Amino acid sequence: MPLFPNYHRAPVTFIQANNATWVDEKNQSYSDLSSGIGVYNVGACHPQVESALVEQAHHLWHVPNLYQNPLQETVAQKLGGDTYTTYFANSGAEANEAAIKLARLATGKSTIISFTNSFHGRTYAAMAATGQDSIHAGMPMLTGFEYAKFNDINSVKSLLNDDVAAIMLELIQGEGGVIPAEQAFIDDLIALAHQQHILVIIDEVQTGMGRTGKKFAFEHFGFEPDIFTSAKGLANGIPVGAMLAKNELAPALAYGTHGSTFGGNPLAMAAASATLTVLDGVLNDIDDKIKHFWLKLDEFRQLPTVKEVRGLGMMAGITLNIPVNDVVSELLKAHIIVLSAGNNTLRLLPPLTISTEQLTDSLEKIKHYLLKK
Ligand SMILES: Cc1ncc(COP(=O)(O)O)c(C=O)c1O
Repeated sequence: MPLFPNYHRAPVTFIQANNATWVDEKNQSYSDLSSGIGVYNVGACHPQVESALVEQAHHLWHVPNLYQNPLQETVAQKLGGDTYTTYFANSGAEANEAAIKLARLATGKSTIISFTNSFHGRTYAAMAATGQDSIHAGMPMLTGFEYAKFNDINSVKSLLNDDVAAIMLELIQGEGGVIPAEQAFIDDLIALAHQQHILVIIDEVQTGMGRTGKKFAFEHFGFEPDIFTSAKGLANGIPVGAMLAKNELAPALAYGTHGSTFGGNPLAMAAASATLTVLDGVLNDIDDKIKHFWLKLDEFRQLPTVKEVRGLGMMAGITLNIPVNDVVSELLKAHIIVLSAGNNTLRLLPPLTISTEQLTDSLEKIKHYLLKK
């Protein structure tokens, strides 16, 4: 066995993908409502991203962070404007590691309050921030992490002390089952953090890059986080992560405190820059598709196998009362790619660029499948 057994891989090999259609080695087509776990937000192999990548590949693939990298500056400006300063990493977990380090360096405090049922990645600090016992199982954990109950401000208050550097959360818990934060909880949390001089870190790895209908989910909630992270859809399939912090925090990530060989690699930056340009256009035009998505999803609420439907924008969770993993496998056999998430939830993250016809057709097929169960 050449590979570790740490993944369950379905018995299908994909060889090609175009927007929301993937093709396997037998030349069979599949409809993708997963975006490759929230990555292909502007559709697989988007031609504009592909051109940028190919063009960059002709010139320069890698340059260490010992030299100027104007492409990083371009992407940083597109991502954070004049308000945020950016550090580039290679993944969501790495972006979160940088956020945790920065919060500790900037405040001189160590405790990070995160939430039960959260997911922040598999590297050590990101894993420690993740509030799920199953993710920690069998491994000693880092100290300095406390877990509050999601959507419960009193639970946060009960964990406060002089050593709290930051509160870290997803605005919609993705892996945890597509559980949205409540507006009132966020309002209270931001006020509390402000009052207590505690930083707020928003993990936008799954909710960002247009997934919820705005570039970042915090735009729905009416605040600007001190620190936020992005990855997954950032370069539409080329590995990259980013940690952004309000400009005034920037000096804390001083020379020598952090770094990465590949972070902000020219290929990733070319893809990210093109993705961000494409995304602006896609988001200008997304409202009708989102409305349609939720009209169709409303129909799922009536099904006997469905307990609850939740989400925001193009991010939906359908909690089932039949085993979700069987549903995911069966739908794959029917050539529809969907995901599971915590709490027996079917998770749908279609590319924002999926055609309304393909979206409708795929949702109808899922609905009929669930109806027959
Ligand atoms: C909210 C969130 N944060 C962090 C991560 C980790 O990202 P990566 O797998 O790129 O390390 C994920 C991955 O699913 C995620 O959903």
